[in-house]
Amino acid sequence: MIVAADTAALLEKIDAVPRPLCLVPTMGALHEGHLSLIRAARQKVGAHGTVAVAIFVNPIQFDRKEDLEKYPRPLEKDLAACEEAGADLVFTPDASQMYAADHSIVVSENRLSNHLCGASRPGHFSGVCTVVMKLFLLFRAQSTVFGKKDFQQLAIIRRMVRDLNVPIEIIGHATIREADGLAMSSRNERLSPEQRADAPIIRRSLVAARDLLSLGERQAEPILAAARFHLEKSPLLKIDYLSLVDAETLEPVATIRRPAILALACFYHSVRLIDHVELMP
Ligand code: PAF
Repeated sequence: MIVAADTAALLEKIDAVPRPLCLVPTMGALHEGHLSLIRAARQKVGAHGTVAVAIFVNPIQFDRKEDLEKYPRPLEKDLAACEEAGADLVFTPDASQMYAADHSIVVSENRLSNHLCGASRPGHFSGVCTVVMKLFLLFRAQSTVFGKKDFQQLAIIRRMVRDLNVPIEIIGHATIREADGLAMSSRNERLSPEQRADAPIIRRSLVAARDLLSLGERQAEPILAAARFHLEKSPLLKIDYLSLVDAETLEPVATIRRPAILALACFYHSVRLIDHVELMP
């Protein structure tokens, strides 16, 4: 496995590695969810292609200083996990490698980002789009894998690639969950044992609300109320947003007539977690 710690080292290697190349962008603190993305990348490129992983905690996508400072960075463990999962090339730059001190260009998406996490985390998605575009340009990958857990991020990256004619195939990969239903996230490890024990309520609430739909309910209000009813049982969790939105436009919907998403972001103290369920009419 090749490890490139800066852009010069990466550019030196990138022309020599076999194609096709599939890129898995991450911020490290790799868990089983990431490893499944790496394995999906291997499946995409086959035994003779290249699986590349980027590990970079991107400062410009953080809206809270504390979140950036406390974001876990277990680099040695991550490199071992990449090797074990079968990655061929890992890029581990630091912020000064990725951003010139006077960098002044960003990529921003101005429609889908107005909702959900984009509304509650100003600047977050332009930070994501900017770094992802830089990674696409550095790697010149034929394909890339993103987790479906961050469905708004995936929708925005797809929009960026469509609107800017970026020649790359995007693969969305299913959310990987703990046995108790909690979606895997690098932030889960910052939960106290008490918070961790409480957190499966996120998935249970969303599934309970989705069950109403299978009983014939099509109005957003009772579905949202059902999820809220369950979430309010937790003394530890604070809702950031709970929204029912159209799966394509991400605009709020009052009546479900097309595929929709019930999306939640919540806080356990300063740890922010997200999850969602798809609602198919
Ligand atoms: O999903 C993530 O981990 C990050 O937002 C990404 C796509 C690696 C960009 O920094």
